[in-house]
Amino acid sequence: PIQVKKICCIGAGYVGGPTCAVIAAKCPHIQVTIVDLNKQRVDAWNSDDLPIYEPGLDEVVKGARGKNLFFSTDVDKGIAEADLIFVSVNTPTKKSGIGAGFAADLNYLQLATRRIAEVSTTSKIVVEKSTVPCKTAESMRTILEANSKPGCTFDILSNPEFLAEGTAIADLFAPDRVLIGSLQTQSGLDACAALSEVYANWVPRERILTVGLWSSELSKLAANAMLAQRISSINALSAICEATGANIDEVAFAVGKDSRVGPKFLKASVGFGGSCFQKDILNLVYLSESLHLPEVAKYWKAVVEMNEHQKSRFARKVVDTLFNTITGKKIAILGWAFKKDTGDTRESPSISIANHFLNEKARLSLYDPQVTEEQIWLDLTDYGAIPAEPIKPHVSIQKSAEEACKGAEAIVVCTEWDEFKNLDWEKIYENCPRPAFVFDGRLMLDRKKLQSIGFRVVTIGTADGY
Ligand code: NAD
Ligand code: UDX
Repeated sequence: PIQVKKICCIGAGYVGGPTCAVIAAKCPHIQVTIVDLNKQRVDAWNSDDLPIYEPGLDEVVKGARGKNLFFSTDVDKGIAEADLIFVSVNTPTKKSGIGAGFAADLNYLQLATRRIAEVSTTSKIVVEKSTVPCKTAESMRTILEANSKPGCTFDILSNPEFLAEGTAIADLFAPDRVLIGSLQTQSGLDACAALSEVYANWVPRERILTVGLWSSELSKLAANAMLAQRISSINALSAICEATGANIDEVAFAVGKDSRVGPKFLKASVGFGGSCFQKDILNLVYLSESLHLPEVAKYWKAVVEMNEHQKSRFARKVVDTLFNTITGKKIAILGWAFKKDTGDTRESPSISIANHFLNEKARLSLYDPQVTEEQIWLDLTDYGAIPAEPIKPHVSIQKSAEEACKGAEAIVVCTEWDEFKNLDWEKIYENCPRPAFVFDGRLMLDRKKLQSIGFRVVTIGTADGY
């Protein structure tokens, strides 16, 4: 097969950075350059303080950086030198125009693709790493072919990424599978073999799946839709549990024991967050509608609607429990990231819940071990769309959970950070007015212990009864 010697990755984000750092670590014979237009991000990748928090990432990056792993803002040079290019740019939900609120915004992807066509003087394998709607590879190919120099050919592969944040390095070291889609032409299959060889440096061959281009693209959307669907299903059942006295953890355990269902991804919660699930499902909804399949669209849309319901149901429950008003009351929110072990806050349920409380005129005291104060303000102001001044007097951001909980009438756990299990809950209780409430949105705290201290504990998916 074709030997890949130089890889360029366009996009030094949550996916491009860890993915290509791991390729560099596992393939010392391949030179890997990760490029991005965002200078601040590139500088951070080149510093001791990496731009994203991911357990194990520091070691991987520091082990390869300067040897066969490079971060640069020189996008053109990265493209020109490479024989294989990953396109790992953001593909957010469109905010305006056709398909607004549902369709993926492919502008970044198309700009990167055009750049590849303009800069390349040798043939390249172009790998679609970003999550994209079905058939995007075809439009990438059209753009590349229409703009290429004589003698330059491009093979397009789809190689979606399945890593989850917080466990990205472990996922990349030992993936359940690597999926590569290609055209079933000779040159498509050759390109597919070349990328397979890269992964085969550490991934067992039977885990490297090769399929057609469109199957690969759709499989990514399908995997995320089905994972999110499990969470919405368990969260829908959690509402029934709260009304009946059943316990959602017991139900999930019993259901998950069926080997056809399996135990993973059945943890009830305040709702799913993260940059992928909602975006990819809405993308699937849009695709279904475009294909004149309204019932299919409606089916998947319900997964997102149930998630919205879960978030607002939880926020409402806090208000109801605090005797129907939280105006002027201090509420501590523990956890701002969308899950533990990441500093990422994109679509974090904490944001919706905080907004709900602010609308009720509560005073918020926030803490997260990895999210910066600056990021929390960006989230609360929707990146500047909402003025900060009116909110400022009602929000304080603290450096520890204990500090955030001081004087709070309710402590609301939104992210399952391990440290919340081992807080000095006795001391926290001493500093809270009575009755002191804890709302466990992650079913992670020792309810009996908290109750014995004196807290009134409200948990998702179990009946009240403090
Ligand atoms: P991100 O926003 O963290 O990173 C994307 C980077 O691309 C940004 O730093 C941006 O500056 C850069 N960029 C955009 N256009 C560029 C251009 N023309 N040239 C150079 N750089 C450019 O996004 P992410 O979370 O890494 O996601 C990237 C893709 O991977 C998305 O399609 C996403 O759906 C998919 N994905 C994400 C995850 C995840 O967990 N975050 C998992 C699987 C797949
Ligand atoms: C997800 C997919 O898991 C990954 O394969 C894909 O590449 C990107 O999207 P990510 O969003 O990083 O990864 O994290 P994930 O672990 O899937 O969690 C997503 C959200 O669901 C989080 O808010 C998490 O707290 C929530 N969740 C997850 C639950 O509420 N219950 C669960 O049982 C699992």
